[in-house]
Amino acid sequence: MSMLSEPKPAPDRSRGGGEPAIELIDVTRRFVTADAKVTTALRNFTMTVGKGEFTCVVGPTGCGKSTTLNLVTGLARPNEGTVRVMGRPVAGISPDIGFVFQADALFPWRNVLDNVAAGPMFRGMSRKAAHEKARDWIARVGLHRFEQHYPHQLSGGMRKRVALAQTFINNPKILLLDEPFSALDIQTRTLMQDELLSLWSDADASVIFVTHDLEEAIALADKVHVLTAGPATVKAVYDINLPRPRVTADIRYEPAFVDYARLIWNDLREEVQKSHNQATAAAVQGSEP
Ligand SMILES: Nc1ncnc2c1ncn2[C@@H]1O[C@H](COP(=O)(O)OP(=O)(O)OP(=O)(O)O)[C@@H](O)[C@H]1O
Ligand SMILES: [Mg+2]
Repeated sequence: MSMLSEPKPAPDRSRGGGEPAIELIDVTRRFVTADAKVTTALRNFTMTVGKGEFTCVVGPTGCGKSTTLNLVTGLARPNEGTVRVMGRPVAGISPDIGFVFQADALFPWRNVLDNVAAGPMFRGMSRKAAHEKARDWIARVGLHRFEQHYPHQLSGGMRKRVALAQTFINNPKILLLDEPFSALDIQTRTLMQDELLSLWSDADASVIFVTHDLEEAIALADKVHVLTAGPATVKAVYDINLPRPRVTADIRYEPAFVDYARLIWNDLREEVQKSHNQATAAAVQGSEP
């Protein structure tokens, strides 16, 4: 028998757990490819994110994580089921939603100041007011000396800081992040995780953060959703009852953190293995004459 005390499900927290901000209810999403093959990415997928809650989604590669985010943005529509944001069915792309992608999504031809000011200007703010607001946000992410730099003159970590400023300046009520830090080295990554938590704690946004990295998920989240190998359903939901504010580089050495990692990995490992077996079987089938 294990000597470890297993983490218990947490009761509703002061952040989140109340009214839902994002709901996917019994959603199925299929794709038809050019050769008329049907792929079911999500099946009977149900997930709720409370207002102000930080939710992480982990699951094997190709299982349907990005598809889930696309349904919330309105970029994709469900074949079956319902997707609601702030109680309303998703219809089109909402300005209340901020999205940070895995790849850089900065405008390469604009300097940092104009990249960060882009959102407010797009919404009709004057150039002067947008620049003033952008300067504040650039300072908040520690880049005040780099306002005139272009994206190619910045490091990967600095570009992510610009992306966070560019997103948070719009005061999003819903924030979706798709493996935003996966291309960064581990030190920069933990700094960015802390930066994100600090911005989030001031912003009152409801977050879905997709990652392959279970430790990243536990360090950041109020709740971790584990998805099954594709077609994705929610296999399990864990409440992460670790105190805030968190320093992500340190929290991973806490005994409770290690308990969570062990417990959730037991669930995730099975799905990663299944996904690997599916990929191997598909490759063998594809190579048969
Ligand atoms: N536009 C599309 N057309 C056809 N199939 C698609 C499309 N988008 C996604 N898929 C398929 O749906 C499944 C889920 O894809 P999705 O991108 O959501 O996975 P993921 O979990 O984000 O993967 P990763 O961790 O590698 O980013 C995959 O089998 C993928 O091939
Ligand atoms: Mg993806």
